[in-house]
Amino acid sequence: MRIAMIYYSGTGNTEEIANLVAEGARRAGAEADVLPVGQCQPDIIENYDRLAFGCPAMGEEDLDDMEFLPFFEQIENRLKGRDVALFGSFGWGDGQWMRTWEKQVKELGANLFEEGLAIQEEPGPESEACREFGYRFAAEE
Ligand SMILES: Cc1cc2nc3c(=O)[nH]c(=O)nc-3n(C[C@H](O)[C@H](O)[C@H](O)COP(=O)(O)O)c2cc1C
Repeated sequence: MRIAMIYYSGTGNTEEIANLVAEGARRAGAEADVLPVGQCQPDIIENYDRLAFGCPAMGEEDLDDMEFLPFFEQIENRLKGRDVALFGSFGWGDGQWMRTWEKQVKELGANLFEEGLAIQEEPGPESEACREFGYRFAAEE
């Protein structure tokens, strides 16, 4: 099982979540690569069995439109039937950005894993919950 964590992070919180989710996936025996979205070409998604995407809440409950969205828009039509998990950090909102993103991913025909993992600011005490999310994503039949 190969899993990619493809993420954008401005101040490092989503990056921390990406690393924790990957740790959990490795505990489940998966090979997990943590990849900053700025270094990813669209075809990279074909190298993986499962895809976890990470992006913080930006703009007004939106995805980051500088790095993450330009990548995501290039691959969104290739997500039909793919196993996809979502994660990211948010600040002062109520997680609306994640609910919007979940809906979009389902409408694209992806198999969305659980609800997106939305963490307020840095993972801190929620670190183990991030690892467990990665474990479950990798271990799911
Ligand atoms: C330009 C900008 C816009 C933001 N917009 C939102 C928002 O709409 N809702 C929210 O809950 N947090 C918002 N935040 C807070 C970030 O989501 C939060 O600080 C998050 O932890 C950043 O994650 P990162 O460290 O991975 O970049 C915004 C932050 C910035 C810099």
